[in-house]
Amino acid sequence: MHNELIPFDPARDPQALAASGALDGNVAQFAQPRGPDLLRRGAALDAWCTLRARHGVWPYARVLEGPPEPLATVAGGDGPARRGINFASQDYLSLAAHPAVAEAAQRALREAGPHSAGSAVLLGNTRLSQQLEASLGELLGLGQVVLFPTGWAAAFGAITGLVHGADHVVIDALAHASLRQGAMAATRNVLVHRHLDCDHVRELLARIRAQDSANAILVVTEGLFSMDADSPDLPLLQHLCREYGATLLVDVAHDLGALGPGGGGAIASQNMTGRIDIVMGSFSKTFATNGGFVACAERPARRQLQMYAGPHMFSNALSPLQAAVALESLRIATSAEGDGLRADLLRNAVELRALLAGAKLHCPGAPSPIVPVWTGSESAARIAGMLLARDAVFVNPVEFPGVPLGAARLRLQLMAHHSPAQLRRAAGLVAAACERAGAGRPPALAGAERYRA
Ligand SMILES: Cc1ncc(COP(=O)(O)O)c(C=O)c1O
Repeated sequence: MHNELIPFDPARDPQALAASGALDGNVAQFAQPRGPDLLRRGAALDAWCTLRARHGVWPYARVLEGPPEPLATVAGGDGPARRGINFASQDYLSLAAHPAVAEAAQRALREAGPHSAGSAVLLGNTRLSQQLEASLGELLGLGQVVLFPTGWAAAFGAITGLVHGADHVVIDALAHASLRQGAMAATRNVLVHRHLDCDHVRELLARIRAQDSANAILVVTEGLFSMDADSPDLPLLQHLCREYGATLLVDVAHDLGALGPGGGGAIASQNMTGRIDIVMGSFSKTFATNGGFVACAERPARRQLQMYAGPHMFSNALSPLQAAVALESLRIATSAEGDGLRADLLRNAVELRALLAGAKLHCPGAPSPIVPVWTGSESAARIAGMLLARDAVFVNPVEFPGVPLGAARLRLQLMAHHSPAQLRRAAGLVAAACERAGAGRPPALAGAERYRA
């Protein structure tokens, strides 16, 4: 049968798996298929995905059965559904399981129903979405907030809604796809700077301003990079933007709520609350639902986003359920209870990193909900991910286009409710899987130098 799963046989070693071809290739190879037949020219991609799925190294095949908690049931990998330790879901403060969040969702369902039934400009706003805007504005110290149906939409909408073809974007080499695609859609004047390298940002800003003083420049970065768990120097970036008449946008999808004093993320940790030009983020990592936002201090920018950010104007507004869940999650994240959950999360991050470092694994970045474990080769990430799933430890093997080619890794994402015993058990199994998979060490060059723009 064509789609039949070939169960991974523990007796077979990774070399045998390699012979199947399921460890070869990468998504980049199939990105530009040729020919007039739009529906069939992806056949080679289809065959490649099918081969990987049959050998249990295709993460798309997995499904979660039940809630995304530290102990979760996952089906559809290389065998029957397994209950195991889950580092593959994003629920940093464990709010998806919080009774008050569930109660807020039920109340919204009772009182407003499941559907916003229109874009924000066409009666899609609700009391809940207005309260959510106000609460976000308070946390960020930025009074002008626009909501979006997803974080992706917020990133894409922020850039395409504000930047036009004569403007310039200067963007970190490792910025999320939503930001990069937004930049490319907004203007051809996109310059990529080396990861976290403020000297390079300065150089590019100076180069642009030497030729063009008439148009805008948007500098784009993240509060906590989603694959490398590191953060830029935000005061310096904002200072450079002032110096060169540019505007700074920081994507706080992974750090807002989960890190920083009061849940204010990397921006609060760097004492920049209310002092960043544009902040955008997502509810999908810490705030237990789908949705995103863009915030700034200037009303003209808000008006522009409302009118010209396509994913806001031309997409259904957040449902009352989503708004209620995000609002209640935000309330908890900014309360004393949130401080406690963040402390648990950070303790878990420090503990897991120490365990993995003790096993001689390389984990880039600093303690945060994201713990990347370097494998280098895509095949090593695939094998390690599969071996771990077999041991009922669920992680996300990440390869191109999520990260550069040859910089594959396992991404473990922590929750406040992971227990010390779960971390200990997982760390041992991660180390064993990486060794068996032949995970490599990163090149000697560290940090910014590893990624040439
Ligand atoms: C840095 C960053 N920005 C934006 C997004 C998009 O957020 P969402 O998943 O809510 O669409 C993500 C999620 O993958 C992300 O990691």
